[in-house]
Amino acid sequence: MAKRWINDLSQADITPESTYLNRRQILAGMAGVSVAGLGAASSARASADLTPDSWEVITSYNNFYEFGTGKDDPMKYAGSLTTEPWSIEIDGLVERPGTYALDDILSKMTMEERIYRFRCVEAWSMVVPWNGFELADLLQMAGLKEGAKYVAFETLMRPEEMPGQKYPVLEWPYVEGLRLDEAMHPLTLMATGIYGKPIPNQNGAPIRLVVPWKYGFKSIKSIVRITLTEGEPPTSWNRANPREYGFYSNVNPTVDHPRWSQATERTIGGGLFAKRKPTLMFNGYEKEVASLYEGMDLRTHY
Ligand code: MTE
Repeated sequence: MAKRWINDLSQADITPESTYLNRRQILAGMAGVSVAGLGAASSARASADLTPDSWEVITSYNNFYEFGTGKDDPMKYAGSLTTEPWSIEIDGLVERPGTYALDDILSKMTMEERIYRFRCVEAWSMVVPWNGFELADLLQMAGLKEGAKYVAFETLMRPEEMPGQKYPVLEWPYVEGLRLDEAMHPLTLMATGIYGKPIPNQNGAPIRLVVPWKYGFKSIKSIVRITLTEGEPPTSWNRANPREYGFYSNVNPTVDHPRWSQATERTIGGGLFAKRKPTLMFNGYEKEVASLYEGMDLRTHY
């Protein structure tokens, strides 16, 4: 099994939120625990670079085209989405295909907090304290069959609750994909919470993918299906515009988007007039993930 990734940040040092809950504690009806209590476990090395943005910033500037194309559409309209009960169908090249209830999945997973920088292809970024579990653990639960080389993901299709799906802005449902080694990497997270609270609808409730070294659009929201495949699966943005969006979509300051530079980023929490920051290779996770792409030309495989 993949080596677990150790978060070297101390939540106690950097969180601006005062109370902290994780999904299971909420489900169990427990009261909030203090920030210091949760932070104590991780080794203290606060980084100014990874100071989480506020709950307000994280939940009010979103891309979730199922609810409209404006940044505040998800906040305004995602409330209509019913997220309970929820299950995920896991099929394709797995030993134990089936419909897995989310609550059953969560009861078997090791929940962790991970503070990741999130870099959007539109050249803005924010820092989010996610709560979730490693995708690798879920894939192990279903059991990988020989021949599985890719993982395909699918978002819920429910136009009655997701009004954007009535318009052909993208081909619905939203789909994404990872190579199996990317999916099994310990940085790759299935998130169910932010700041210890259940993930808000606009951020992909009740469960979404987070791949911190890739542009934000790879992090598919409100997942209902995961399929292990032999061939490279289609992805929504590549389908929509293959010249601009490739399968890999690794954050790479040296490969520009055809219409704008990817060398710098605007931090959403810093406001409109904040100085742009240089974008880091693989969004700052180069040490952890560069080996996955050894020998590949990242200009061709963008
Ligand atoms: N997932 C679905 N189902 N639909 C979407 O429109 N947008 C993607 C990604 N996941 C999207 C999606 C894009 S473009 C980005 S930048 C991130 O979600 C935004 O995540 P956030 O709103 O939590 O910041």
